[in-house]
Amino acid sequence: MNAPFKKLSEAASTVAAYSTAVQLGLLDRIDREPAAPAELARSCGAHERGVRVVLAALEPGGFVERMADGRYRPTVPGLASLHPILPLWDHLPESTRTGRPVFAGDDPATAAEVYPAHVAFLAGLWQDQPAEVAQRLRPPKRLLDVGAGAAPWSIALATASPSCRVTALDLPPVLRATRHAVSRAGLDDRFDYLPGDMFNAVIAPESYDLILIGQVCHLFDEPSCAELIRDLVPALEPGGTFAVVDAMAGGPTAAACDLSLYLRTRRGAVHPPKAYRGWLEGAGLVDVDAAEIGGDGDTVLITGTRR
Ligand SMILES: C[S@@+](CC[C@H](N)C(=O)[O-])C[C@H]1O[C@@H](n2cnc3c(N)ncnc32)[C@H](O)[C@@H]1O
Repeated sequence: MNAPFKKLSEAASTVAAYSTAVQLGLLDRIDREPAAPAELARSCGAHERGVRVVLAALEPGGFVERMADGRYRPTVPGLASLHPILPLWDHLPESTRTGRPVFAGDDPATAAEVYPAHVAFLAGLWQDQPAEVAQRLRPPKRLLDVGAGAAPWSIALATASPSCRVTALDLPPVLRATRHAVSRAGLDDRFDYLPGDMFNAVIAPESYDLILIGQVCHLFDEPSCAELIRDLVPALEPGGTFAVVDAMAGGPTAAACDLSLYLRTRRGAVHPPKAYRGWLEGAGLVDVDAAEIGGDGDTVLITGTRR
């Protein structure tokens, strides 16, 4: 089949099936407990054949999986929370004409409104990557998680390193979601919270042996990332590690990610690993190294050491 036609019809049917599954409550229902199409049709007031084809259309994309007993379950919890993102794309023609995003996720006031509802879902997106990052890094004693959100990276590190104490830095309304995620992980007594704007945070010098900034830098332009990293490095003790996890320019989903950042930030972008390398070295870090994580060419872990 003609490749553009095939791609477009697959994408359109996936979006329509996903949206239908959310609107009819199918995804929320299987989030609570796996269910078969007949039962879902009864409990959600739908037609059984319709439910069957909608769920089957969502399976190849990895949204849901069919269990051996015929029941469906979601592959990631909370998938329905992604639904409000869909109407954003309707604004792409207007944004393309004007150069303005639908909202400015790189503005702290806007981020404080937008992120509380989304960070739990975002944390689920990274799947096994936080555990992989925790394995690759030297076990920390004092970790600063910058733009923590639902703290996927620091929860994995704290879980892997029982003597690690974490400070989660994020905007005050988002930290409510952070606390919730930390409680769910049973790590209340290992976390402290630093509410505020990461660009103006007051952090005691040399107080951490690991500073991690995960899936945050893409919200900002290159000069802002360089400034942020330069201002955070003094909080690292000598010999400590600065770690960035982010989307990788040139990866298979980088163009789609850039398009989405165009819609929801003023200047965000997927930056190349060599730019991160330059920012870390420019901040005085040594032994700067980059490693692909997740195995799909989309994400990179970049580390540097404070002398
Ligand atoms: C894309 S999310 C990543 C969250 C988490 N690190 C993860 O990987 O799932 C970006 C995070 O940065 C936070 N953030 C954005 N701008 C910020 C700012 N100026 N100061 C503090 N936090 C900010 C948001 O609230 C959000 O939690």
